[in-house]
Amino acid sequence: MTSAVSYRKEGAIAILTADNPPVNALGHAVRDGLVTGIAQANEDPEVRAILIICAGRTFFAGADIREFGKPQVAPSLRDVHEAMTASGKLIVSAIHGTALGGGFETALASHYRCALPSAKVGLPEVNLGILPGAGGTQRLPRIAGVEKALEMITSGRPIGAAQAKAMGAIDVIVDGELLPAALDYVNRLVAEGAPLRRVSDLQIDAASLPDGFFDAARARLAKEKRGFLAPQKCVDAVEAAVTLPFAQGLLRERELFEDCMASTQSRAQRYAFFAEREAAQIPGLGKEVKARPVASVGVLGAGTMGGGIAMNFLNAGIPVTLVEVKAEALDRGIATIRKNYEATAAKGRIKPEDVAKRMALLTGALEKSALKDADLIIEAVFENMELKKSIFAELDAIAKPGAVLASNTSTLDVDEIAAATSRPGDVIGLHFFSPANVMRLLEIVRGANTKDDALVTALQVAKTIGKVGVVSGVCYGFIGNRMLEPYGREAELVALEGATPSQVDKALYDFGFAMGPFAMYDLAGLDVNHLVRESHRDKLPTNPNYYAIGDAVYKLGRYGQKTQAGIYTYTPGSRTPHPDPVIETLVQSEAARLGIAQRSFTDAEIVERCVYALINEGARLLAEGIAYRPGDIDQVWLNGYGFPVYRGGPMIYADIVGLDKVAAKIAEFRAQYGEEYWPHAPLLEKLAAAGKSFADWREVM
Ligand code: 3HC
Ligand code: NAI
Repeated sequence: MTSAVSYRKEGAIAILTADNPPVNALGHAVRDGLVTGIAQANEDPEVRAILIICAGRTFFAGADIREFGKPQVAPSLRDVHEAMTASGKLIVSAIHGTALGGGFETALASHYRCALPSAKVGLPEVNLGILPGAGGTQRLPRIAGVEKALEMITSGRPIGAAQAKAMGAIDVIVDGELLPAALDYVNRLVAEGAPLRRVSDLQIDAASLPDGFFDAARARLAKEKRGFLAPQKCVDAVEAAVTLPFAQGLLRERELFEDCMASTQSRAQRYAFFAEREAAQIPGLGKEVKARPVASVGVLGAGTMGGGIAMNFLNAGIPVTLVEVKAEALDRGIATIRKNYEATAAKGRIKPEDVAKRMALLTGALEKSALKDADLIIEAVFENMELKKSIFAELDAIAKPGAVLASNTSTLDVDEIAAATSRPGDVIGLHFFSPANVMRLLEIVRGANTKDDALVTALQVAKTIGKVGVVSGVCYGFIGNRMLEPYGREAELVALEGATPSQVDKALYDFGFAMGPFAMYDLAGLDVNHLVRESHRDKLPTNPNYYAIGDAVYKLGRYGQKTQAGIYTYTPGSRTPHPDPVIETLVQSEAARLGIAQRSFTDAEIVERCVYALINEGARLLAEGIAYRPGDIDQVWLNGYGFPVYRGGPMIYADIVGLDKVAAKIAEFRAQYGEEYWPHAPLLEKLAAAGKSFADWREVM
């Protein structure tokens, strides 16, 4: 046996225990161990049944994603399942933790399945841009019915043991310790003479499917998962389960799986899976640096951000003290939080009793002294340096030793804020994105003096509240907003040069962004953007065309959705943008004033201008050490700015296009628009010249 799978016998049962930390991914050694173990059991006449179980924290979490893209070494997972099918012994899987992807498929290839009540099962392959490729699309519809199977496969969402049992995917839920309980179950099956029940032998009830079921699913998913390839392929595979015999269905599944695997979407999504996890690792910091415990949180400012920030912690069961200056603002902030929870409960997303439970964890206060016991204090008051400095000086006097003091500033210098305290090592930026209880990104701004354990605490906090924490160094706008600036600038310039704002938005929406840049201005507020620019005008490009449209629209008093008019117009109560001829004329007259000739644009040109501006700035951030890895930049853009998930982020997108092409185009733009807008990014240029990609960036640093 391999070291990844051990074999032992208990009476008439052969127990195959896989042990491949951390998540028992079905890598080569595990697959080999399973095939060998099954063969050994087959040869032993005493063995009546085989129990497949995993050591450690979970049943198989799926195929080993790190092996993808490399030549596969036999046996494949399908070979494992074939060995299971061919065996004359009764095969039972015992599930704890999460049986995901190939792991759940292995359970489905068994004759029976038992699980702990806390176990979960799922087919999350779609999130990696692929589909279940080891029989999941053929077996699950046979066991759970086509509709439920399709929902699980296309959503990728795991379900709990009870729900899995209700749909027939688990036979029994066992309590207590898994191994003895599973052995009891297998012994019972053996004693009863239970048949070798193969899922592949079950018939699908296709007649009960509504007419046009699969086409309707394709149309629905084309909207819900706009631009994604894998969900469509999942539908094709499940349809094959209905229209083809099992063996042919498996072949069809294989073809579709391989189509997905070869797609750039899957490459990008698999990259994003690992980039998300890598973001939590800080170069030079090992596991010896421990997070400080965070059992209570203080939030200062109950406005747009403070309220959302507080909700994250209440959702995670952590008590929050919310501090405001005026009772009225505090009452309003607390009422908004309650209203949000009530709305969520009304939609059935949380239980009605959860509203009271979460609100009971919230305490309002008008004095900062109420924060004296908080382990973490997050400041979310107005964006004003003098105000923030005076608040941090006060917090310094109040907070207990070791408390982490964080600012939610979106632009200000965290080092300057930290210098207002006697403990700059405890000060950090925690930049949440609006709406703070929804957006997954948390930019963690590491000041020059931030202590390592304060940083690790922030990363742990991100994990606790379900955010993707990405560390940024201190610079204006950190990673995300610094890159947003040239992106928005190019969107405006392209409009001044002749594309309408709605064409610009449509081109970027069709590229896959959640919304176009002009619609985003309207959402964030043109007033907010204008004031931010004014606050550091001396550091901005001096070209009069720089954000000329945003400033001109602001001067009309059109601030976006909040005034029902910005770049677009809005009807009361609606967020749907309507193109406005007034703005199109304004853009034309601004172009005339600035002496910019107008021409027509293709969507591809618009995308190049805007997205290449992101890439150029990203390369500069990387070289400056503001971002630690290209993957961190990509995580910021996927989780904070609506960059299309299936493109993996701007940096991997550049790799996929080819850095030579990207660099050549950027050089053209520089020749036309100058260094002020398209500054050199030597890292990008060196990589392109060497025929390398951002994945190799350390080699040229
Ligand atoms: N293959 C390789 N490595 C994996 C892995 C997998 N399937 N799943 C997790 N890992 C690694 C992670 O990269 C991470 O590595 P690191 O410590 O070096 O960063 C480590 O395991 C722990 O993972 P998490 O930090 O995510 O741990 P959590 O406890 O938060 O979550 C989990 C555990 C729920 C299992 C989560 O890791 C997960 O969702 N994994 C992916 C599951 C999945 O997508 N399975 C389908 C794979 S594709 C497949 O099976 C194809 C088949 O149909 C043919
Ligand atoms: P807001 O104006 O909605 O809320 C600020 C709140 O702080 C107000 O309720 C105000 O009464 C309160 N406040 C002011 N002085 C205070 C004091 N001394 N003590 C306690 N409370 C005080 O502002 P918003 O939008 O919530 O922004 C807060 C911070 O978050 C700013 O630094 C902003 O740059 C940052 N930010 C904002 C984002 C957004 O989209 N609105 C996104 C990310 C960060």
